[in-house]
Amino acid sequence: MAKNKFENMNIVIVGHVDHGKSTIIGRLLADTNSLPEGKLAQVKETCRRNSKPFEFAFLLDALKDEQAQGITIDAARVFFKTPKRKYIIIDAPGHIEFLKNMVTGAARAEAALLVIDAQEGVRENSKRHGYLLAMLGIKQVVVLMNKMDLINYDQVRYEKIAGEYKEFLAKIGVTADSFIPVSGFQGDNIAAASPKMPWYQGMSLLEKLDLLENKQNVKNQAFRMPVQGVYKFTADGDDRRIIAGTIETGKVRVGDNVVFYPSGKKSMVKSIERFNASVTYEDTAGSATGFTLDEQVYITRGELACLNGEPAPVITTKIKGKLFWLGKSDLNTLKKYYIKIGTQKVAAKIEKIITVLDASTLAATNTRKHVQRNEVAEVIFALDNSVAVDTAANLTETSRFVIVDNYEISGGGVVMNTLDDGQYSVSGASVSQTEITWSEHAVKREERAVRFGNKPALIIISGEMGFAKEGLAGYLERGLFLEGRIAYNLEINPAAGKSEPGADREAFLKKLAEQSNILLNAGILVITTIDHCQEQDLKIIKALTGRTVKLVWAGELRDCDGPVDLHLGGDESKEEMYFEIRKMLINSGTVLGPGYN
Ligand code: GTP
Ligand code: MG
Repeated sequence: MAKNKFENMNIVIVGHVDHGKSTIIGRLLADTNSLPEGKLAQVKETCRRNSKPFEFAFLLDALKDEQAQGITIDAARVFFKTPKRKYIIIDAPGHIEFLKNMVTGAARAEAALLVIDAQEGVRENSKRHGYLLAMLGIKQVVVLMNKMDLINYDQVRYEKIAGEYKEFLAKIGVTADSFIPVSGFQGDNIAAASPKMPWYQGMSLLEKLDLLENKQNVKNQAFRMPVQGVYKFTADGDDRRIIAGTIETGKVRVGDNVVFYPSGKKSMVKSIERFNASVTYEDTAGSATGFTLDEQVYITRGELACLNGEPAPVITTKIKGKLFWLGKSDLNTLKKYYIKIGTQKVAAKIEKIITVLDASTLAATNTRKHVQRNEVAEVIFALDNSVAVDTAANLTETSRFVIVDNYEISGGGVVMNTLDDGQYSVSGASVSQTEITWSEHAVKREERAVRFGNKPALIIISGEMGFAKEGLAGYLERGLFLEGRIAYNLEINPAAGKSEPGADREAFLKKLAEQSNILLNAGILVITTIDHCQEQDLKIIKALTGRTVKLVWAGELRDCDGPVDLHLGGDESKEEMYFEIRKMLINSGTVLGPGYN
């Protein structure tokens, strides 16, 4: 019992204008004795005095500024409780506002009640809202066929509408939990079974609510916490920093190894800190929390905290998304927008509009160059910076995004796919293999650099086939060593993939990066050779090492498809080439002066 006291469940109520959403909620409050003493009588009396008919929806307005017996109503949220748990019901008045709430995640609901007026039947918003629920991944949908009193509790009409709506839901891949015939006005099948519909054997709304599943899934998924901010304890002598945010999915415990994306920085959870709450060793989805780290890493708002060993998000600048557009002006491919995913915010352009769909008729076109308000579209976004995302199929919560146009939320949706953006993604697996260490050692990087006379860097010697790269690499190693630098010529067994692009090539580059990382961490100038090094190879190496990489190209023919740091003709003596390389290293600040030029 004590445990349930804290269980909260978010429910969103949607449906076409005037189909009876607020009435149903008002009735639910009244019939579960959730209203403050005398409230119902008071509202009825006010109506009588003003000669207007009483509406259960008025109860919601009347309660807005009130806080009694655990019921409070703010903007559009109604709180009420059953012996099982507390419910937060999100009832939105206007259509556009409702959609905005939905896409911004204010209505991060576990389940939805979708109201259809039995007399009026299925309307375009009945469908649009159903579509949106499906798109945002709200899987539990209870359809309430309201105003049954107006059709004499007719089973045939109920079945006709239910059949029609089921058909629509089937097309968008949703199975409704149940179709409950109700009358919000008369109180049928709301808090108790109605004697007026003996043909209906199912549950009342109240019974159904308590049987809906709450957050179970999200707690068992991979840990995801978008970082909202990093806060310093201010008390004397306390230098801890708290990484704060709301846990979207999964759980985190003291001692867990966290990885922040897109940076790939890692550390261990030292303590979990919650504002005004008791000390804890574990925190789970839905909780606004914070944690301190074992080793300080520099983290800022916008990173996505994940756990090492769990499925990693994808880091990319190109995503395929499905969105619902609410903007005043059309969405087009020329304009710059902002896209917000979790706490990440990045400028974006629509690279391509793939399909545009009417969410109520489901009619689609593939030739449109813009998307109008209330339309659904599949588009490809090109982002200015990398983001860490999940796809809707893998983790709905962290796949959701919002689009901002001129400071206004103008649309939202989910990431369907991430696309190869030509940049090498640092996936969770490769980061852990290569162990990028950002933590501070007892000896600082700068101290090593001063002692050695050089900063760590990876010097790649590449060039035309047949050029004796290994010989030059060895000469460079010896030269740098003799003048007091710490240099090491790292030769990776060239048998696998050294020359040919492809899977083997990638494996070779990964191995090279892994081994270089250890040496680079130790502050060493690492020298290596790669046949015919191309821009993509460099991207992979740079992504995996996160350090300075210098490419020296030797040979008259320079057929590297990207920039090089130094191009040698290949006719020079080794000594001349050595001095050229050394000059490039000094000019770029990799090899430190004074006295070496
Ligand atoms: P918006 O917030 O404007 O989208 O409307 P809503 O869906 O909240 O509808 P609301 O509850 O305000 O009800 C609209 C009208 O329908 C009101 O006049 C209600 O009295 C009436 N109504 C709602 N439920 C029932 C019902 O079960 N039977 C009858 N006869 N009337 C109902
Ligand atoms: Mg309403």
